[in-house]
Amino acid sequence: MERKRSKASNIATILLLFLLSSSTEAGKRRIRLISQPCKSLSFYFHDIIYNGRNMANATSAIVGAPVWANRTILGGLMHFGDVVVFDDPITLDNNLHSEAVGRAQGLYLYDKKEIYTSWLGFSFVLNSTDYKGTINFIGADPLMEKTRDISVVGGTGDFFMSRGVATLTTDAFEGEVYFRLKVDIKLYECYS
Ligand SMILES: *[C@@H]1O[C@H](CO)[C@@H](O)[C@H](O)[C@H]1NC(C)=O
Ligand SMILES: *[C@@H]1O[C@H](CO)[C@@H](O)[C@H](O)[C@H]1NC(C)=O
Ligand SMILES: *[C@@H]1O[C@H](CO)[C@@H](O)[C@H](O)[C@H]1NC(C)=O
Repeated sequence: MERKRSKASNIATILLLFLLSSSTEAGKRRIRLISQPCKSLSFYFHDIIYNGRNMANATSAIVGAPVWANRTILGGLMHFGDVVVFDDPITLDNNLHSEAVGRAQGLYLYDKKEIYTSWLGFSFVLNSTDYKGTINFIGADPLMEKTRDISVVGGTGDFFMSRGVATLTTDAFEGEVYFRLKVDIKLYECYS
């Protein structure tokens, strides 16, 4: 009796191991399938934050701030709680004055008191001879890291149903008024 039970449990263990190993194999295979991007693109976008004096060239504005801060200047505590809406020019090189190929439109908010880190939700609205359509981005942006990966969750037009990952690099940072991000997009799902 004792023996039978242990034999049965041995068989169960072997079955379980088999199932586990085969599902890991399947997982690996699936990952391998999508490990090459079907499209890679690089852009820069430029954010000039309104600071009470630069209305003419500002491309973003603080629209929400905690009670201890205000909407003119990003607040203390690592800007925690500040919400910024932007309509930033996108360029192919790192020059703010190059011809824009589209706009980066959406918001970022600061979401930690102890360190500079933010959360992004925005779209690239592209309208150039090369690209027409939108690419939609979402994700955590731990600003102090040299590179940060955020999700490309979808797209329209030339980017119909696209998905992938975008690597962000802070390419320039001038006080609290101007920053420039380099965006290296790798799409792993392309339908056009
Ligand atoms: C925006 O305009 C202000 C005032 O004209 C100027 O001081 C500042 O350098 C400009 N910023 C950029 C990034 O061009
Ligand atoms: C806004 O807050 C900044 C500091 O975060 C302060 O220097 C500035 O005076 C405040 N502006 C107004 C209009 O309260
Ligand atoms: C896209 O660019 C074309 C040509 O410059 C222009 O006619 C059109 O209005 C633009 N569309 C949008 C949505 O900006």
